[in-house]
Amino acid sequence: SIENMAKRYQPYSTWTPEYVASLKAEVAASQWRTKTHIQPDTGLINDPCSLNFFNGKWHLYYQQFPFGPVHGLKSWAHVVSKDLFNWRRVPGDLLPDNELDAQGAYTGSALVTHGTLRIMYTGNVRDEQWHRQSTQLGAVLGADSRLYKDPKPLIANPPAGYTQEFRDPFLFNYQDKTYVLIGGQRADHTGAILLYEKQPDKTWRFVAPLSIPDEFCGYMVECPNIAFINGKVVLVYCPQGLDQDFFEYENVYPNIALVADSFDPETGTLTHQRLQNIDKGFDFYATRLANTEKDGTLAISWLGLPDTNYPTDADGWEGVLSYVRQLDLRDGHVCLKPHPNIEQLRETATDALPVVSQNTDQCSVTALSGAFELSMTLAAGQKATVHVPDGDHDQLLINLDSDSGQGMVQRENRNNGGSLRQFGFPAGKTVTIRLFVDVSVFELFIDDGYRVVSGRFFGDTCPTAARVNPPAAVSNVQAWNLRKD
Ligand code: FRU
Repeated sequence: SIENMAKRYQPYSTWTPEYVASLKAEVAASQWRTKTHIQPDTGLINDPCSLNFFNGKWHLYYQQFPFGPVHGLKSWAHVVSKDLFNWRRVPGDLLPDNELDAQGAYTGSALVTHGTLRIMYTGNVRDEQWHRQSTQLGAVLGADSRLYKDPKPLIANPPAGYTQEFRDPFLFNYQDKTYVLIGGQRADHTGAILLYEKQPDKTWRFVAPLSIPDEFCGYMVECPNIAFINGKVVLVYCPQGLDQDFFEYENVYPNIALVADSFDPETGTLTHQRLQNIDKGFDFYATRLANTEKDGTLAISWLGLPDTNYPTDADGWEGVLSYVRQLDLRDGHVCLKPHPNIEQLRETATDALPVVSQNTDQCSVTALSGAFELSMTLAAGQKATVHVPDGDHDQLLINLDSDSGQGMVQRENRNNGGSLRQFGFPAGKTVTIRLFVDVSVFELFIDDGYRVVSGRFFGDTCPTAARVNPPAAVSNVQAWNLRKD
């Protein structure tokens, strides 16, 4: 069975077309397939790796194991889009096919330079005792859509004093130079983010670990990112084992933002640091940022978690990616909202419009297709509940109190990730609410992205209706069904 470790790591070429066809049939019958999110054709997907505008299109790569809903031999799946929402699978996957990435082409990132997409990624190698060896490798996607791997590692070893938990390079340009951040772990099992600078001879010089206090880093850091916004610095990263008494989060591992006032690339020094949750939901991890010229800082997350089971496992697949969001700072607070192109997903055919009916007795939305956007304004000093029913109970229930600025999401759940999350948002004022539901995924944005709550939910029925109570608390209720081109 796929539970067998050796099988998970066997070369891709050993999986037969018959096996893949049977897995496809299982997946196709799954009631929780989404309509508009990136999801695996078969097997598992996790981290987004790189998102770049290149050759007239957006290119996205993400982690996949196509042969079962488990974390097996990982590769990069390649998709392209004109609008960041309608994605198409294309050739150019980054496959684990040599001795440097024999047990996985792990997460990395890419920059567009000199007409090519330059990738840095982690080569995961295990020895006979299953001890890990990590190197940072290079690959190039040419204008011919073919992928060329560099023959030698770009960074062959972690610096002295660091373990082999050394991965997920994030490339960035800053003041005319190119740098990379790498998630790491010190020999004493404290987490760190390592800064390297690209030299004129194309080698990489270790500068320093970023000056982040130990208690912000847990025992190991995965998936670091950096952005420079309005003169501030935003790091987004995953510190495994962060102390929950020190910083509040509820998921098995957090994915958080650190906002700082300044960054010194000569020393890795960050000044005046404070931590923030980027999402208060159930399932989000491994967020990747993309620093773009036209669209600002983009963010895309894995709406899943490590070490967590999902009911879709029984159907041969696991994991989805979030919609592409724009990341911004408002009064020093990280805000995320869907990229405006999300309107491309709205079904506008008149016979496919949801029916919104609001009067003094009720506010209900019907004729929803399972994938929909529901937006409204919650007046100041009001309490409202949004129900997404599943027969006689709710598969999703959202309580919002704009007086206290407190909210709660309860989901129908079938895994070990809990069914309730509470969160705050700006109190005492009118707030906008945008809820996206896509069969088994929800993304909730409150007060223009000040608070984001994302996750999976698993009802018995496809979500085709919603209700808001009391009707008088909300105004401007609008809904659209969503579909891909
Ligand atoms: C995070 C992660 C990364 C690693 C990748 C492997 O989810 O563990 O650190 O590169 O997944 O798929």
